[in-house]
Amino acid sequence: AAPIRYEAETSPATCSGTIDSNNAGFSGTGFCNTPNAVGATAQFTVNAASAGTATLGIRYANGTTATRPADITVNGSVAQSASAFGGTGAWTTWSTKTLTVPVNAGSNTIRLTSTSADGLANIDYLDF
Ligand code: GCU
Repeated sequence: AAPIRYEAETSPATCSGTIDSNNAGFSGTGFCNTPNAVGATAQFTVNAASAGTATLGIRYANGTTATRPADITVNGSVAQSASAFGGTGAWTTWSTKTLTVPVNAGSNTIRLTSTSADGLANIDYLDF
C-alpha cells in the first residue's frame, strides 16, 4: 500500500519547539524546528495494519555540516539509537531518511529524540 503522510505540524503529532515556515520546500504548512538541545522531540502517531517491521520515511533538512543524531523510539522502546540526520546542504534542501522499525498492529507512537546539543534536524513529515 502507498504510505500515509503524517505532517509534523498536524495533531496528534507534537514538536518540542516551533512549527516554522521560513525555510522553503516543506510539505504542508510548516515543519518542526526544535530547540538546539539534547532531548528535543518530534512525535508522530501512526496506524499500522498489522504487527511486524515497517518502513518509515522521515523528511528533514539540516543546513549545517554537523550530523544531528536522534534516537528513534516506537511505543517507548528505542528502535534505532542515535540515528544520523546528516547535513542536506541548506535549510531549504530536504531529504528523506528511510529506516525500518518494529510496530504493533494499530496505533503506534514514533518519537525522534535528539541526542546532541544541536537538537533535531528540521522535521517535515513522516511517511508510514
Ligand atoms: C537556522 C534555521 C532553522 C534551524 C536552525 C538550527 O536558524 O533557519 O530552521 O532550525 O538554524 O540550527 O536548528
